[in-house]
Amino acid sequence: MSSKEGLLTILKKADGGFVSGQSISAALNVSRTAVWKGVQSLKEDGYSIEAAPGVGYRLLSVTEKLLASEIGPRPPESFGHVVHHFDKIASTNLAAKRYALDGAAHGTLIVAETQTGGKGRLGRTWHSPEGGIWISLIARPKISVNEAAKFTPMTTLAVALAIGKAAGLEAMVKWPNDILVNGRKVAGILTEMGAELERVSFLVIGIGINVNLSASYLPSELEGKATTLMDEMGAKVDRARLLRAILDEIDLTYARFLKGEYLAILDELKAVSATLGQTVTAVSGSKKVSGQALGFDELGGLLIGLSNGTIETVYSGEII
Ligand code: BTN
Repeated sequence: MSSKEGLLTILKKADGGFVSGQSISAALNVSRTAVWKGVQSLKEDGYSIEAAPGVGYRLLSVTEKLLASEIGPRPPESFGHVVHHFDKIASTNLAAKRYALDGAAHGTLIVAETQTGGKGRLGRTWHSPEGGIWISLIARPKISVNEAAKFTPMTTLAVALAIGKAAGLEAMVKWPNDILVNGRKVAGILTEMGAELERVSFLVIGIGINVNLSASYLPSELEGKATTLMDEMGAKVDRARLLRAILDEIDLTYARFLKGEYLAILDELKAVSATLGQTVTAVSGSKKVSGQALGFDELGGLLIGLSNGTIETVYSGEII
């Protein structure tokens, strides 16, 4: 633990009470000047700290930013055990791919307060103003290229469950990867891959959630289609808590996947599906398939029952 992390731990433990500079410097075995510098650095990170001469320091409020100090510490190997935080970046998925190519560990998390070139599925732009959760995770599962498709439904379920647990809202999944609250989209997943011949060398799982922003900040073409957790709750959501819940759910889901429980995970996804049982039109490239959404196949493809009695499976695209 660095002395800055140690300082934050001490201030948090004091639970809003004052801690003297002398006791901090003794506990961390650093000079009083180093303590003062640590306090200035925490203030720059957005922590609000009161310094009372002759009394000490006390933590008034934590940072609003999704810094490593608010996300962790997390167990080694788990998602989010390494964090790269950016105030502003083009796209966390792009950055994650660069980190992965440079050998970043499984579980590495890239988080940005805002993205200037956020990428959505199907070549779309993903609007990423301040207040959302814009993250990418690097995963290095030992799987074939075919199996990579499993990570999108798994992550979608994990994020929907985390929104339910941390924000208390009922989140449903619209095939293939949209997360809806009250019928409107609050989050989406974009999984990308780096592969060598048949084997996956890394996956980049991008997750975008509209959290503490008003839907009125989103482009007008999304009006009526997109929403935000803040709009649905009528209050701000603790983003750090939600992000920790997401990482915990993804850890659990990934552990189950490794134990061979993928089909059970898919069954759970069915339980929160906003698509199954509906009459739908799926658009995949230039192809349109209309019928009854019956179920998912092993890779998360949507089984659509056509009026002529046959079943067609759609693997990519969207429901209009
Ligand atoms: C979708 O189209 O529904 C998927 C949206 C995925 C957006 C997230 S935001 C964090 C990560 N970085 C990106 O550039 N895109 C993903």
